Amino acid sequence: MRKKVTVIGAGNVGATTAHRLAERGYADIVLLDIIEGMPQGKALDLYEASPVIGVDAKITGTNSYGPTGNSDVVVITSGIARRPGMSRDDLLATNMSIVRDVTEKAVAVSPAATFIVVSNPLDAMCHVAYEAARLPSSRVIGMAGILDTARYRSFIAEELNVSVRDVNAYVLGGHGDTMVPLASYTTVAGIPIEELLPASRLEEIIDRTRKGGAEIVGLLKTGSAFYAPSAAIVEMVDAIVLDQKRILPCAALLTGQFGIEDLYVGVPVKLGADGAEQVMEIKLTPDEQEALAASAAAVQGLVDDMARITSERAAEMS
Ligand code: LAC
Repeated sequence: MRKKVTVIGAGNVGATTAHRLAERGYADIVLLDIIEGMPQGKALDLYEASPVIGVDAKITGTNSYGPTGNSDVVVITSGIARRPGMSRDDLLATNMSIVRDVTEKAVAVSPAATFIVVSNPLDAMCHVAYEAARLPSSRVIGMAGILDTARYRSFIAEELNVSVRDVNAYVLGGHGDTMVPLASYTTVAGIPIEELLPASRLEEIIDRTRKGGAEIVGLLKTGSAFYAPSAAIVEMVDAIVLDQKRILPCAALLTGQFGIEDLYVGVPVKLGADGAEQVMEIKLTPDEQEALAASAAAVQGLVDDMARITSERAAEMS
């Protein structure tokens, strides 16, 4: 039987993810959104492309959770996106309610699924989904590091006029201004980046990477990025569905690794059929370790804000 992947949220990120998955053909796809007709229309359009592409996967659009049942992977893209001038953190109060709701409904019919969280602010939304799903933390993983790393790699490739494929790197930490591009793990065909680029130029590239999401929001004006985010999501889905054991930067719940406890932060993770099968605890320089701790502190701040919002809401209700 074909695997089944549900994509919740049929906006730009969700629909583009469904499109990329549909062209792979290895899984049936269910696209869910609250807007009536919209996921059905996009799914039908995608399905009608399949004879041309030559794949037989089923693609279904829905407004209810029944058709998503028994998914192997559930991708959560729901929530409001950034507009110019908004940070990812500005989305916190709205998206925490949405992500909790969709996770509870999705896990009720797909208790064996692995969840990939994409909604922003990413690391905080991983906590929401993890608590709502009540699954082992290996089955709730956030997508951000692959996207941030892809931006970093593409800027370096452009700068050095080399293939993007030959630029290896990691961007760790939270998916925000405190993200941590690791210069010590940035190589081009194995050559350390310091030997190819002056430190000042690398610093500019790192800064552009940190602001990469905002750069796209500033250009689009009515939404945020979706081509690169969906490519990153699908790399994770590939790794899980095809049990590839890829080592990819993802948001995972840390339990002491890197000196961080009980917090979702972007780190190198081995992704396979069992989800986040292992956090790879690579060696960091003291500066990188400090930057990662600062990034984790920023995520902790959001987790604390969510606890405050939840108790304020409870107080209003009583
Ligand atoms: C970005 C948004 C999706 O980084 O967080 O583009």
